[in-house]
Amino acid sequence: MIKAKPFVKWAGGKRQIIKELMKYVPEDYNCYYEPFIGGGALFFELAPKCAVINDSNSELMNVYNVMCDEDKYSKMCRLLNSYEVKNCEEFYYELRNKDRDKEKFNKLSDYAKAARTIYLNKACFNGLYRVNSKGEFNVPYNKKTKVNTYDKENLLVVHMYLNMNDVKILNTDFEETLKLAKKGDFVYIDPPYDQINSSFTSYTEEGFGKNEQKRLARVYKELDERGVKVMLSNHNTPLINELYKDFNIHIIEAKRNINSKGTGRGKVEEVIVTNY
Ligand SMILES: C[S@@+](CC[C@H](N)C(=O)[O-])C[C@H]1O[C@@H](n2cnc3c(N)ncnc32)[C@H](O)[C@@H]1O
Repeated sequence: MIKAKPFVKWAGGKRQIIKELMKYVPEDYNCYYEPFIGGGALFFELAPKCAVINDSNSELMNVYNVMCDEDKYSKMCRLLNSYEVKNCEEFYYELRNKDRDKEKFNKLSDYAKAARTIYLNKACFNGLYRVNSKGEFNVPYNKKTKVNTYDKENLLVVHMYLNMNDVKILNTDFEETLKLAKKGDFVYIDPPYDQINSSFTSYTEEGFGKNEQKRLARVYKELDERGVKVMLSNHNTPLINELYKDFNIHIIEAKRNINSKGTGRGKVEEVIVTNY
């Protein structure tokens, strides 16, 4: 079967370092866990038969859920087709600003919300996902006249893959998700990056600061003690080296594509931490 690919461009997406990551994936494991799924680059590459995926971003997880339902999936695709035709700056802002009226927004069907999320991801500046303090999506239009709002073939492959396998979709905090992992399972942890200088970190209304990195390291240790195989990626910073000093830290070089200012592109050192 053809392999599915991420259907959204996501900050911190791992498509560029997928070959490096693959080198460290254990040969065998029971269930696959990814508590910070984002675009799911490694998840789709591995295409596990049993998986638990999670992200705190509810608009994103709504898309994964809609993808699993035949009827909702078809309705979402029909909307995306029409958005491709309607695409222009005015239409973009009209759809983007639907979340300004929370009462109305909450009444939208889940497939309409999913189509909105995919369209905004493709038509916004640099594929960013950023919300303000009120939870309103505030990324400007990318000003491109032609937008492929989605890759129809890939969406179908994603839809089929999610339907034919045992994939549990959650929308909660990473710690809650990882309580379910058992001995012999494999967990891939790809949290928001630890930052030395201030840069893009706000994926959702809640940020992910140093205390969150420390909480995550405690969860990593607990998983290790339970006999779960754990792989984590992050920046090569002093904090990350300190937090994971008892494990295997592999340094790799990676290109980062999404940056809040559109500048600062270049090679950034990343680490992959494994407990096996
Ligand atoms: C680096 S991205 C993951 C990228 C993904 N591996 C990919 O290939 O696209 C980090 C993700 O963590 C999510 N996130 C932030 N805080 C979280 C939390 N406390 N629990 C679960 N997910 C969280 C963000 O919404 C974001 O999608």
